[in-house]
Amino acid sequence: MKNTASVCVAIAMVVLAASSASAGQGAADKGAAVYAAQKCSMCHSVAGKGGKLALDGAGSNLGKLSAADITEWIVKPAEAAKKHASKAKPPMRAYASLPKEDLDNLVAYMVSLKK
Ligand code: HEC
Repeated sequence: MKNTASVCVAIAMVVLAASSASAGQGAADKGAAVYAAQKCSMCHSVAGKGGKLALDGAGSNLGKLSAADITEWIVKPAEAAKKHASKAKPPMRAYASLPKEDLDNLVAYMVSLKK
């Protein structure tokens, strides 16, 4: 009887882990769509495509940033630029009116680019 219970717990844990992993991937995929819709690529590049400011690969600042830092960059870039002493041009505009879900997915996408 004890064994059956622990097998059930183990199965439940596997199912939970699998579903949260796929939710993470789904969020990043949706975030990629937000990235495209908001035309972030006018200034930023991913996989070498887009503007001058690479978000992934060598020289990217993203690897040093937490999800909270990334959120600040998207919502309050002027403050983030001050904090990180960024002088890069053209300055990023604030995407403060993005629906929360889009913002969360976009941040998940940014996090997925970190290597
Ligand atoms: C008008 C140009 C412009 C657009 C459009 C833009 N950004 Fe930026 N972004 C910048 C600049 C400039 C920086 C500061 C880069 C630096 O200091 O190296 C920056 C920094 C960032 C950072 C911090 C990491 C880094 O590379 O410094 C993130 C994350 C980011 N942008 C995400 C986005 C997202 C997501 C969008 C679309 C919603 C977007 N940006 C649109 C100009 C832009």
